Amino acid sequence: MNPPVGDARKRLERLEALKRESRQGGGPERLEAQRRKGKLTGRERLDLLLDEGSFVELDRFVTNRATEFGLADRKILGDGVITGHGTIRGRPAYVFSQDFTVFGGSLGEAHAEKIVKVQEMALRNGAPIIGLNDSGGARIQEGVVSLGGYADIFLRNTLSSGVIPQISVILGPCAGGAVYSPAITDLVYMVRGTSFMFVTGPDVVKTVTHEDVDKEELGGADVHAETSGVAHFAHDNEVQSLAAVRELFRFIPQNNTERPPAGPDRDSRDRRSAKLLEMVPDEAHRPYDMGSLIREVVDDGFIYEVHAGFAGNLITAFAHLGGHSVGIVANQPAVLAGVLDIDASVKGARFVRFCDAFNIPLVVFEDVPGFLPGVGQEHGGIIRHGAKLLYAFCEATVPKVTVVTRKAYGGAYDVMNSKHIRGDLNLGWPTAEIAVMGPKGAVEILYRKEIAAAEDPEAATEALHEEYREKFAHPYVAAERGYLDDVIDPRDTRPRLISALDTLANKRDANPPKKHGNVPL
Ligand code: HXC
Repeated sequence: MNPPVGDARKRLERLEALKRESRQGGGPERLEAQRRKGKLTGRERLDLLLDEGSFVELDRFVTNRATEFGLADRKILGDGVITGHGTIRGRPAYVFSQDFTVFGGSLGEAHAEKIVKVQEMALRNGAPIIGLNDSGGARIQEGVVSLGGYADIFLRNTLSSGVIPQISVILGPCAGGAVYSPAITDLVYMVRGTSFMFVTGPDVVKTVTHEDVDKEELGGADVHAETSGVAHFAHDNEVQSLAAVRELFRFIPQNNTERPPAGPDRDSRDRRSAKLLEMVPDEAHRPYDMGSLIREVVDDGFIYEVHAGFAGNLITAFAHLGGHSVGIVANQPAVLAGVLDIDASVKGARFVRFCDAFNIPLVVFEDVPGFLPGVGQEHGGIIRHGAKLLYAFCEATVPKVTVVTRKAYGGAYDVMNSKHIRGDLNLGWPTAEIAVMGPKGAVEILYRKEIAAAEDPEAATEALHEEYREKFAHPYVAAERGYLDDVIDPRDTRPRLISALDTLANKRDANPPKKHGNVPL
């Protein structure tokens, strides 16, 4: 980049030439290689993510300042990352998009500084930041300076956490310590076949543990969206992934001082649904799909599910209800009977904390038989992990509403936004059963000797089950105490929830002043 010379026209030509150069990335061959891998370029991705024509680029003239390993002769405008801001659904967002065609999108000093600059602007201006990651990691030629650059980014990620939404879209490799920036951000999107996240790649794994595994099996989109829980979304291609990020913006606010955006509110607010009467089976152990039940209640039957592939026994989703943006947390009786296990607890806790940080009211649909028993769960720390979900609901000060559709047993009753932990409105359907445990377990513990001594143990057991059901397997003991604010006709669920959200719109609640809590990590 030589200094501009000559008259104003020449200076303008020079500027245009430099802009053209900056758009060429690592050159035609590397761009072609990028396409052969089925990947879009950094700029094409920004075009898909942002409103048409809204992107404003910053720092396009920045180059690396390194001299080692031939970098003195390889100054590429932009240094492998395109940064700036634009709008998504009309609202400002800051972005960075790594360009794999320039030094493999690797992160050196200048590259890191560019990212840090947009991170700081996003934080200062209260706007979300979206990182499009496609990088070979720390730029080897720049050594420790690259590592420092990552740490600078991690710090900004942490300081921005809970202040502005931070979204990571993984569109290529993301390896080594580089994974920890997306890991700190709120939501991670991945693409099948082209994006990978791992701390150590297949070769190192083979050397250390002798395990033979390829990149997709070790850290591909499905692995992270279904097994590790690192990714919240997996899509078949980049276009779908970036469209999904745009859709997310229908539900989230710009920052922690704003309310989330309102939905279109075109679905009737007092719409009753007779279908809800048929959704919960009479038999307490028969599964049903809580997802269909939720869709019957929310605006336009639409939910934006988060972590859909991970811990399916708990549904976490954004939706609109009477135009209010809400975060839904629901037990899913169709998967593991809707039990709470380690993965479900962690998934739910993170989602609840996101909603609470960003003023998104929580709506809970509850049908939970308890925590999952087993050596694996106990040794895996279900006590510690279950506590995360409990802590998250206790701590949350956003409007919190619960509907108990069927079972609310044991500790899980307390955890799932019970009245006792500041549930604002707790409703039960007539089918709700709120008890320490189900009839079978309770009768076995309380009447083992009596059953053994009975003439007809089977008939005695059935009679005791019936007695227990009469006493506890209904919502009225809880309602008598005010633990449920009301028992409602299931058909009224939607209007009741909407009126609750209307009345809670100006809710003010706070936790005691503290530096920060000590969430059981
Ligand atoms: C400098 C890099 C680079 C890196 C890739 N390149 N990674 N340059 N530093 N880390 C360059 C290559 O030299 C090549 O340059 C171009 O990018 C494309 O790389 P290829 O290997 O040809 O591409 P591909 O076959 O698609 O393989 C991609 C890859 C592989 C899987 C990412 O390049 C790779 O394994 N890179 C190293 C990954 C790594 O170990 N990074 C450090 C992780 S530790 P030319 O000029 O030929 O186009 C880390 C610490 C973070 O990141 C610290 C946080 C605490």
